[in-house]
Amino acid sequence: MDYDAIILGAGGAGLMAAATAGQAGARVLVIDHADRPGKKILISGGGRCNFTNTGAGPANFLSGNPHFCKSALSRYSQWDFLALVERHGIAWHEKTLGQLFCDGSARQIVAMLLEECRKGGVEIWLGTRIGEIEHADGRFRVAGCVARQLVIATGGPSIPKMGATGIAYDIARRFGLEVVPPRPALVPLTLGQEDALFTSIPGVSCPVVARVGDVAFEEAALFTHRGLSGPAILQASSYWRPGGTVSLSVLPDAAGTLRAARRHMPRSHLKAVLAQHLPTRLAEVLALRIGLTRELGNVTDADLDAATATLTRLTFRPTGTEGYAKAEVTAGGISTAALSSKTMEARDVPGLYAIGEAVDVTGWLGGYNFQWAWSSGVAAGLAI
Ligand code: FDA
Repeated sequence: MDYDAIILGAGGAGLMAAATAGQAGARVLVIDHADRPGKKILISGGGRCNFTNTGAGPANFLSGNPHFCKSALSRYSQWDFLALVERHGIAWHEKTLGQLFCDGSARQIVAMLLEECRKGGVEIWLGTRIGEIEHADGRFRVAGCVARQLVIATGGPSIPKMGATGIAYDIARRFGLEVVPPRPALVPLTLGQEDALFTSIPGVSCPVVARVGDVAFEEAALFTHRGLSGPAILQASSYWRPGGTVSLSVLPDAAGTLRAARRHMPRSHLKAVLAQHLPTRLAEVLALRIGLTRELGNVTDADLDAATATLTRLTFRPTGTEGYAKAEVTAGGISTAALSSKTMEARDVPGLYAIGEAVDVTGWLGGYNFQWAWSSGVAAGLAI
């Protein structure tokens, strides 16, 4: 069978590209090995899909080329997607930090995308293996079908138990496109024996400023029996590299707080003072780490400075991440150097496109990854 475009992957990016191209008149086939489309959309945002972020802009994305995402994001922005959501009568609300969620269910977003695909006459084959891809005379042959354009929209390998694979990278390499080494991102970090104090308080969370290099995220951190999680840590994890450190400011005004406590409550102990500002179990663990057991009235300035340094730069050297099994996204992927930022088409392979998470563009936590799926999907869909 002949199509204008075959899209590999019925996730957010693939469905968006298919709907856009189909509505512009292209005959489009989407192929996916899953039994239903948009599976990651369905489980996203706790079932309510954090479908975009009002603040989405190039600064919220990691990529070998930070400029690459600009064109697609500006041509199809968060406001364009929100307008689509509203046209479909989907009620939504803003949570913290500009994150937009469905009031009802993520199923509404999948239904919306399928309805847009239906309007464009898009065919969707589920439960279909991609198998061998042949390429001759400017035409791609996949699963017994032929098209002049082939779109890689199979995402990354995060959450393999949902059917996620790294096939995008195999296809890209087969066509000579460079792949930036993929790695788990938005993922919990694991701690070793030297941080056993902190893995002894699973379930404790508190607001922090998490820093990796020059990047800082002010959100909650969660201590787990394996290490560190929570939004601030997931954000930091995308920037963390093996061997590197993550530091947490758990009490930004530690200097003022400790000095005031020494002046006004000289008989009190560090643990008790910390427990006024932090969860009790965390206060206990921090006091042990700092090792200050005397009454505060007997503590020197140097001791207070050392305690302040720990509380504002509590530094961990994680042993690793919890891997693709727990990673919300995959960083790295098909190199942006191989693609046109306007159309997502491979520079050296006319008719081959790559979009969504398969590409080396990774968003922060908070609706940015879906916005990239929508924006890059539309960019390719318009070009098909
Ligand atoms: P996506 O992975 O969605 O789609 C790829 C498709 O290709 C899938 O349908 C898959 O079955 C198919 N495929 C893969 N390998 C194949 C193969 N070998 N053969 C055939 N088909 C194959 N982002 C966000 O912005 N807001 C949020 O709330 C969340 N929440 C969230 C929760 C959880 C638990 C996860 C794991 C992820 C999120 N994300 C998120 C991230 C977001 O889900 C992700 O970035 C996008 O779904 C990426 O869209 P794509 O279409 O690129 O890939």
